[in-house]
Amino acid sequence: MLTIGIESSAHTFGVGIVDKGRVLANEKLMYDVGSRGMIPSKVAETHVKNARTVIRMALDKAKVEMRDIEGVGYTRGPGIGACLQVGQLAAKTIAAGLGVKIVPVNHAVAHAEITKHEAGFGDPITLYVSGGNSQLLKLAKGPSPHYQILGETFDIGVGNMLDAFAREIKLKPAWGSTVARFAANGKYIEMPYTVKGMDFAFTGLLTYASSLAGKESKEDLCYSIQETSFAMLCEATERALLLTNSDELCVCGGVAQSSRLKEMLASVCKEHGMRFGFAANEFNADNGGMIAYVAERMLRNGFSVPLERCDIEQRYRIDRAVVY
Ligand code: FE2
Repeated sequence: MLTIGIESSAHTFGVGIVDKGRVLANEKLMYDVGSRGMIPSKVAETHVKNARTVIRMALDKAKVEMRDIEGVGYTRGPGIGACLQVGQLAAKTIAAGLGVKIVPVNHAVAHAEITKHEAGFGDPITLYVSGGNSQLLKLAKGPSPHYQILGETFDIGVGNMLDAFAREIKLKPAWGSTVARFAANGKYIEMPYTVKGMDFAFTGLLTYASSLAGKESKEDLCYSIQETSFAMLCEATERALLLTNSDELCVCGGVAQSSRLKEMLASVCKEHGMRFGFAANEFNADNGGMIAYVAERMLRNGFSVPLERCDIEQRYRIDRAVVY
């Protein structure tokens, strides 16, 4: 069922096209975050400007025409309201124009499900690590399957923490990937480490590391904040795997693009003889392909939502989304 998926929860306007579970196109244009972070109205304005172009890019890549599209999906949340609205309106316009069915999709479910699909895993524990979120997830099966949150951040997502730190010490571009580049030549300085069972917190670490700006080298600070935060994620993940008797781990979300995090998680899995999987980076970054993938499955399973009930929800938690 040729399905188009639109993602616009934050800085990325992404459009994916999927047919029978196969991603035919996964195109995007991004708002330049720069050193200012994200200003919702500016990001939304950029999405409006880019929407038509990205939709065209995706149709061309998939070698299909708009009239061939049989279903539509869009990110309902979580995300920034003004940004989500742009994708929602684009999706509703397409569905209304073509007279096809439409489904809202939870962004975190999409990351977790495309990763499970790409890894070929059946019932993994999933570590979802992005800018706004950091959660340990397991799919609870039954009449309304949904992801249970086994553990999560008490304050901010690990991605936002690393981006905020990059801004604090004036790295350019101020992203977690720049922190990773500096970390490659750093030495360890002891930092605050906060794990409570399968939950964790990052603001104490961010405040402490930021207080050392100018007193310690950028390389040492980047190495130490990255190693400490990733070690916290690994400890909580290891506990979740052992407590649930799981033998498969997936990592997904923007921070799953980090090769150091994947290396550390792989070593946890190796120690316990567990399998470790992840998707290509195009699915860890925000993207429309994962939205189209989940939307197609929902539509094939007979689930759709009337146009007038297709809303957005900024705080749409993963444990409230039924996974069809
Ligand atoms: Fe994301």
